Amino acid sequence: MSQDRATEVSEAEIAVHWQEEDYVKPPEKFIAQANLTDQTVFERFSLKKFPNCFKEYADLLDWYKPWDVTLDTSNPPFWKWFIGGRLNASYNCVDRHLAKHKNKTAIHFVPEPEHEAIQHVTYQELYVRVNEVSALLRDFCGLKKGDRVTLHMPMVPELPITMLACARLGIIHSQVFSGFSGKATADRVVDSESRALITMDAYYRGGQLLDHKEKADIAFTEAKKDGVTLEKVLVWQRYPGRYSSKTPLVEGRDFIMNEVLSGYRHRRIDPVEMPAEDPLFLMYTSGTTGKPKGCQHSTGGYLAYVAGTSKYIQDIHPEDVYWCMADIGWITGHSYIVYGPLALAASSVVYEGLPTHPDAGRPWRIAQELDVNIFHTSPTAIRALRRAGPDEPAKYHYHFKHMTTVGEPIEPAVWRWYHDVVGKGEAVIVDTWWQTENGGFLCSTVPAIHPMKPGSAGPGVPGIHPIIYDEDGNEIPPRSGRAGNICIQNPWPGTFQTIWKNPDRYVEQYYAKYCKNRKSRDWRDWPYFANDGALQAADGYYRILGRIDDVINVAGHRLGTKEIESASLLVEEVAEAAVVPARDEIKGRVPDLYVSLKPGLAPSEDIRKRVEDAVIREIGPIARPRRVVMVPDMPKTRSGKIMRRVLRAISNDEDAGDVSTLANPEVVDEIRRMKV
Ligand code: WT7
Repeated sequence: MSQDRATEVSEAEIAVHWQEEDYVKPPEKFIAQANLTDQTVFERFSLKKFPNCFKEYADLLDWYKPWDVTLDTSNPPFWKWFIGGRLNASYNCVDRHLAKHKNKTAIHFVPEPEHEAIQHVTYQELYVRVNEVSALLRDFCGLKKGDRVTLHMPMVPELPITMLACARLGIIHSQVFSGFSGKATADRVVDSESRALITMDAYYRGGQLLDHKEKADIAFTEAKKDGVTLEKVLVWQRYPGRYSSKTPLVEGRDFIMNEVLSGYRHRRIDPVEMPAEDPLFLMYTSGTTGKPKGCQHSTGGYLAYVAGTSKYIQDIHPEDVYWCMADIGWITGHSYIVYGPLALAASSVVYEGLPTHPDAGRPWRIAQELDVNIFHTSPTAIRALRRAGPDEPAKYHYHFKHMTTVGEPIEPAVWRWYHDVVGKGEAVIVDTWWQTENGGFLCSTVPAIHPMKPGSAGPGVPGIHPIIYDEDGNEIPPRSGRAGNICIQNPWPGTFQTIWKNPDRYVEQYYAKYCKNRKSRDWRDWPYFANDGALQAADGYYRILGRIDDVINVAGHRLGTKEIESASLLVEEVAEAAVVPARDEIKGRVPDLYVSLKPGLAPSEDIRKRVEDAVIREIGPIARPRRVVMVPDMPKTRSGKIMRRVLRAISNDEDAGDVSTLANPEVVDEIRRMKV
């Protein structure tokens, strides 16, 4: 493990094996109804059957033209799935369900204010609205297949409607999490060279109607400075017919979607037949540099993979009411609120606001109201709900058959509360490990087959074959309980195709480290490197330890330490900045920001505040550091590298180890004293 990185996995964690918990068996009632109970699935999806096993997933979709080649490996590691096949994601998530399910709810929308009625968008209504928006995008905006559009939308039904309208035409959508700043949106507009920005005037969060359109103006102006001029800014209204932002519309540039749409009523747009490998969307995520990278996801492989994992790991049946509490602005929402559940004709819940506002009973009231039976959330939300209202779930009448946790490791005690109190002991739990790059789950138990083990993700899901390597590329013996770097031996259909406009970074970041032969066209020579530390226990389950690169998982959301550092360096007085992960009881990890000032300058509250403001302006409030510590000097190696490992130890009140080889060992104790 490289010494100067802001890794989440400390040496201490690697040394100590967590105590193995007792297994919990899936309830008989769950098994009796489950989509996947057949143990032979692992035989069917073994490496010997690779890659044709994934036909099982692709067959869940409707194809205009079936594929000729399942996997093309002629240009590694740019894997191509289902070559020759043609399909449309919007057709698969909407049109094809009309015959059987047109009156069924596709999307339940739960607005934050509890006096506002829940909206139920049927598949027929979804079909009508997606078509109208498609017509507008094509005929009003002149957008076409392959164009990019940035969405900066909150959690409202118009978000999946807009995504599906893009998909219908082959327009590549790039949804930016609504909590990100205007500047962060601009960066993504520029990188993707988007022609239009689609946003909303306002949305609710924590009891307030937040002005959102103001961020679009910043995004427009900042993108223009970087040479990308958005042709149009389309603004949905949170309350149709009423503009709820203080930010004026710019004549000729900004248009109210709801108004323009009235010219496109009753329009029907034929879905574009897309080659399987044409991109469906971009999802920007943080990496090891100051700029986020656009993960490019395919149409055919991605949709097949999310449909398959939704069916077998989420156990979605068409009659289920499925609620994933994530935000659609993250990959979890794309795969497991929109594309996976809708491809299976489920009813998917979209909710606005926060789980703990106005009180910690809200999720359980919603579950009761909508009769939700599959529930999906993050350890951070579970910890927050457990703290704010440990007895709330018992007050409501709902029954979950299945629950998911995703995004970060879950502590066994938190897992127990989720199981016993939220799930009332009736639900299976899957702990799903995966990443923005992956499209869908990599490790998890198969809910009706494997017993659950609190705190562990599970084995690779069908068709995913993990392997753990040490730093030098030696395989760590399977089931040894020894930690190393987790990789996936084989490609899978949901994996991203490349980093948008940066294929070299794609190869270097994810494949170069453990590639056995750069000239080889055999996928066996190209394991996927996940940048996570993990160990495999004797039972074959993987325990994920955390990031081994400069990425921090805060509340299950990925933040690049370099992005936060770059933001703070915009403050004139700051000379150097270093961000490290600090443990947090609710959010798992939070960023601590250490800065040193230019010579002769004294620390002040004013500088601290401006550093914090810069981070919020450049990225958004989710990146707000837990503390900004103004240090006299950074702990450094003799070659001048900042020793983030030492800062991480200070932030977590851990032993910093041997610091005598530092160029300035005396600074360690000084910083330790400052922090408290
Ligand atoms: C990172 C990916 C796609 C899921 C949402 C986050 C961590 C993810 C787990 C889990 C332990 C997990 C990893 C991974 N992670 N799931 N079940 N147990 N850690 O996606 O923002 O791309 O973050 O989240 O460290 O690399 P993401």
